[in-house]
Amino acid sequence: MTHQERVFSGVQPTGNLHLGNYLGAITKFVALQESHECLYCVVDLHAITVWQDPKELAGNIREVTAAFIASGIDPKKQIIFNQSQVSGHAELAWVLNCVARMGWLNRMTQFKEKAGKHKENASVGLFTYPNLMAADILLYHATHVPVGEDQKQHLELARDIAQKFNVDFAETIKEAGFEEGIFFPQPEPLIQGPATRVMSLRDGSKKMSKSDPSEMSRITMTDDADTIAKKIRKAKTDPDALPSETDGLTDRPEANNLVGIYAALKGVSKEEVLKDHGGAQFSAFKPALAELAVEKVSPIADEMKKLLNEPAELDAILKDGANRAQTIADPIMKKTKEIVGFIG
Ligand code: AMP
Ligand code: TRP
Repeated sequence: MTHQERVFSGVQPTGNLHLGNYLGAITKFVALQESHECLYCVVDLHAITVWQDPKELAGNIREVTAAFIASGIDPKKQIIFNQSQVSGHAELAWVLNCVARMGWLNRMTQFKEKAGKHKENASVGLFTYPNLMAADILLYHATHVPVGEDQKQHLELARDIAQKFNVDFAETIKEAGFEEGIFFPQPEPLIQGPATRVMSLRDGSKKMSKSDPSEMSRITMTDDADTIAKKIRKAKTDPDALPSETDGLTDRPEANNLVGIYAALKGVSKEEVLKDHGGAQFSAFKPALAELAVEKVSPIADEMKKLLNEPAELDAILKDGANRAQTIADPIMKKTKEIVGFIG
């Protein structure tokens, strides 16, 4: 039995969806739908690994759903759904909790960053977060996973978990009809292009993030044109002109970031941006970048607002997506149970 190509990715409904999410992940989701069967998941189970106000969570789930659709993902052709509506995610995560090793999870840098100094006080869910992420992917035998650079280590872990499961259960996997001994295919990370790690507009050494206390650090997908222009105008830069080759961006994190954002928005390489703008001062480049950002982001923000005015329709899309996702997940979960040796 071989595995067909399938794309899976997830975004957490934790509010403040930003340009990093859009350029690092969502634009890739849109591109892949032309060539692949895709599942795009609003990962609400992941979100609650840190406290989420129950009064805001549903709204944040709808916001990510609206962003997917407004960016161009077709919910009829592809599957858009939220994780907690398909029980297999939590179920497979438990099995994988028993495959992954403590030592593997202890190496996860994102846990260390998120838990900070108060490791003892972090939720257990935050620690096992990467196992749930592996379950998301493996539950559909997904082969390709578009993400930003910050998810690379989690994807390597997902590959290790898939491999260990295949080795641990080699015998029953063959008995279940997978002659090659591969039940879970190794998911390929897709981390490409000029904006796999968009940085804060206030500090070129920090990732653009939903949880940064400074609103000025990020452009959110719901910012209006004036706000976008203001944030770019105030973005931190150095005093030099733009170089004409990418080598000249080394050790200039803020310049590198703005050039990367421009390139990704325009769908070209950083080299091409510097061909046109090399030698320009930021006083000239920033307005060009602001114009481009407004041109690309504003229509999405407008469409998101429209979609969010009809929450019942968004909920129906999620429900339909969950039903279709479940149809793919059920036989895989059933086989998993058989392979592990459960009855029923
Ligand atoms: P999250 O908001 O953590 O659920 O992230 C959703 C997706 O956006 C993941 O694929 C992340 O890797 C990606 N992402 C988050 N922040 C950034 C960033 N600053 N630059 C590029 N990609 C990002
Ligand atoms: N951990 C990812 C993030 O924070 C979100 C995520 C959850 C995900 N499950 C996934 C991404 C499965 C890709 C595949 O960005």
